[in-house]
Formats: sequence, structure tokens, C-alpha cells
Amino acid sequence: MLTVSAALLAEFSAGSEPLAVFSYEDAGVAGAAFLPPAARKALAARAKEEGFQGKAGEVAAFGASDGAKERRFYFVGLGKRKESGAESLRKAAAALFKAAKRRHETVWAAPVEPAQALAEGLLLGAYDYRRYLKPDEERKLSKVVLVAAKAPERNKLALALERAQVFCEAVCWVRDLVNDGPSDKSPEDVTKLAGELAKDGLHLKIIDEKEAAKLGMGALLGVGRGSARPPRLLHLSYKPKGPSRRTVALVGKGVTFDSGGLSLKPAQSMETMKCDMAGAATVLAVARAAAKLKVKAEVHAVAALTYNMPGPDAYKPGDILKAMNGKTIEVLNTDAEGRLVLADALVYANGLKPHVIYDFATLTGAVTVALGSSITAAMANDRAALAKIQAAAKKADEPLWELPLYKDYQDHIKGKISDLQNIGKVRGEAGSIIGGLFLQEFVDKTPWVHFDFAGTAWADGPLSYCPAGGTGAMVRTLLEYLAAL
Ligand code: BES
Ligand code: MN
Ligand code: ZN
Repeated sequence: MLTVSAALLAEFSAGSEPLAVFSYEDAGVAGAAFLPPAARKALAARAKEEGFQGKAGEVAAFGASDGAKERRFYFVGLGKRKESGAESLRKAAAALFKAAKRRHETVWAAPVEPAQALAEGLLLGAYDYRRYLKPDEERKLSKVVLVAAKAPERNKLALALERAQVFCEAVCWVRDLVNDGPSDKSPEDVTKLAGELAKDGLHLKIIDEKEAAKLGMGALLGVGRGSARPPRLLHLSYKPKGPSRRTVALVGKGVTFDSGGLSLKPAQSMETMKCDMAGAATVLAVARAAAKLKVKAEVHAVAALTYNMPGPDAYKPGDILKAMNGKTIEVLNTDAEGRLVLADALVYANGLKPHVIYDFATLTGAVTVALGSSITAAMANDRAALAKIQAAAKKADEPLWELPLYKDYQDHIKGKISDLQNIGKVRGEAGSIIGGLFLQEFVDKTPWVHFDFAGTAWADGPLSYCPAGGTGAMVRTLLEYLAAL
């Protein structure tokens, strides 16, 4: 793992390790005020000679003098000043990591604000999934140190870096779990991992299949019937030591593999269906990080874990399931299983009497048709609950777009012989909204936002600071939200 820290100029000057300097396309070097002006000028001229323009993502490396001694320099482009911000800094920092990772163990960097974003770019850009591979012998870089002129600046940087560390550990925990092979992360396996998180003021309640039956979780149990490995509902809770300002329930879809069940998916659609537990991983990781950050709200993570398999006793199209709130659901397609497992998880979460419920689910392929693979869909029954997350998402630079819970479409999921049916009556229309409307039936009047991140929780190819695979999307948004309460 990479560590990002801050240290005083004297320590930097004593050594001759490389220095990274961030620079705009149109406004020259950012920060680096600790370098003598003449050296700064000479370095900028040298970078230009090397062909460096300061474009976003650009990196130039060369040996030069810092005014006192020779060392290696990395010039890292931030793009045009007006267009740059926290996100361009994350991308630039990730590009720096990539450029230096095979060459040095330690790299110093001239800090640019917001330092939290700089560190996030480094830590997330350094992420590498190797559970099934030998360690990467070529990777050397393990320490990036930000140069602070004075102690107060160093202390301020250290706080931002600590926060980035906690945020990124949570993101990477989610990426790891999403990337794990589906047979290596059964509901029981995830329960064990969640048990490891349950320390420092966190409590884990495990609801196994027997307990779930007692509680009337017929929807979750119905989906689980096709698998030899039983479902679990996990409730990981954090209570602050002092007074709590809010009680926030976070609900996650944890389908540890979605084969589609008897309404079997085609082979190609199944290739990435190990990602269908991203919601559960997200809420568990966020609860853990909330405890580390000592946020001032109670956080209840509720993860509904099950496989969706076509085994001998699998639930069948035509089956009627009864959710924990007594509502009956006709299953017309066993591949619309996420809303079923979430139905029970939402009723359970609602029973905790939270001020607000946020649920996270890789719920519909339709969301990618509507918004593509960079934007998460949000559907809400409460404007304030949505606005708060939108503000946090803006801070985290995680794109979010609202879809309407259009009331007239409720007819589409009205049952004929049951309260509800699990797919819409008009196939191929408003799939993501239909999913949201279905979930709304299980939250009563509690302020609630549903996030469909089927498009963003998984990346088919590498992103600026994320390799292909699980992305950990929405983790930083949630942590920005909780930290601001
Ligand atoms: N897990 C899938 C949704 C999904 C699709 C996630 C692609 C990630 C990438 C979900 O359970 C599903 O199968 N949804 C169906 C719903 C339909 C049957 C109403 C879908 O999207 O086709
Ligand atoms: Mn499905
Ligand atoms: Zn699914």
C-alpha cells in the first residue's frame, strides 16, 4: 500500500529524492514556493524544452538542479487553470504515480490544494488488484511526501491526508470485494469479512436464513432458494460517542452473483455479474470508515446478501413472495431479483426509525442506457435528502443525475393476483424508474434516495484513477456527506 504524508522542507533539502511539481498549461507552476525563484524559472524552462506543455495528465521527467542540488523532477500537467480543480488534481496525481512507480521508492511533491484530492488521486491511482496474482516485483513506489514549509502547514496537510487515507481505504475495500471471484465471496464469506470490520464502536448483527424466516423476509429468502449457499442480512452499526445529530440508514444490494436465476441471463451478460454485490460492499465499507472518521451521526449499514442461482429449489416465474412488510409480490422474472432482496432490507432499515435511508444497488441495465457508465442515477421521495447527497457528490466529483419517480408509472408494477409484480407491464420502458418505484413501496414515508449505480460500480476498461473492474463509486460521496453532518 502507498502512504502519503507531509514533512518539513528541511527533511526534503537534506536528501536528493525526486520532486514532483504540478503545473498549469496557462499559469505555470502551482505551489512549490519553497524553491528559489531562479531555480523555479530554470526548471519551468527545462520542462518546456522537454516538450512539457502542462496539459491535463501529461508528465515529464528529467534531472535538474533544485537550486542547491541535483535531483530528478517530475512535472505533472493540470491543464488550463480555469478548467482545473479537485478532479484534475486527482487525475494528475494518478498520472504521477504511474510515471514514477517503477523507478523510486519515495517521491516528494510540491502540494497543491485541495491536498485531500491530490492524495486521493495517488492512493486510488496506486490501486492494483492482485488476489490471484504474484506480487508486482516491478512496483517500487511506496511513499509520497508533500513538502511543507512550516509546521502549521504540515499539520494542516496531515489532516487532509489522513482523511484521504480513510476515504481511499474504503474505496479500495469495495474494489477488492467486487473484484473477488463470485465463488470466493458467498454471503457467509462476506459475513466473515464484515465481522473483521466490527470493531472500534461498530456492532455487527447477523441475520441468517432461520432468523430471516422468523422476521418474514420472504423476498430475500425467495431469491436465495436457488443457491446451495444460504443468504444473509447484515446490519453493521456505528454510534458516535457523543450526541448523535442524525440516524442514517444505508442499504445495499448484495447479490454475490446474479445468474438471472431461472430467467437465466445470456452468457455474456453474466461475465461481470460478480459486481452485483457492490451496493452491499459500499454500505459496509462506509460504516467502517464513518467510525474511523468519528462522524457525528449514527450509521446503520444494512446489506442483503444472496446468490441468484437456478438451483433445484430455485424460485420460479409465477411464484408469489411475501416481503417483511406483508406486501405480496408476483415474480414474473427471476432476474429482477435486486428489488426483491432490497424490499426486505428496506423494511428492516425502516424499522430502525432512521431520519433518512439511502440505498445503493446495481439494479438495472437500463440505467446505462439512460445515463451511460459515468453517471449514477438517483431517485428520491424527499428533496432535502437528495440535495444533501448532491452537494457531497459535487465535492467528491462523482457524477449524479436525478430520474423522476413518476407516479403514473406505479400502475406498471401493480399486481394482478398480488400487491405488486416484480417487473413493469411495458417491457423495455423506463426500467430504472420502475425499479425505483418498486423500492418506494418498502420505505413508508421515511425520506429516502435510491441510487442505481449499475453503470458506475463497474468499469469495463481503465479509468483515470481506477483499473478495469470494481470502482468503489459513491463511497467518497457518502463519506463527504457523513463527514459534513
Ligand atoms: N444485476 C442486474 C442489473 C445489472 C445489469 C447490473 C448490468 C450491472 C450491469 C439486475 O439484477 C437485472 O438483471 N436487472 C434486469 C431487470 C429486468 C429483468 C427488469 C435488467 O436490467 O435486465
Ligand atoms: Mn438480475
Ligand atoms: Zn442483479
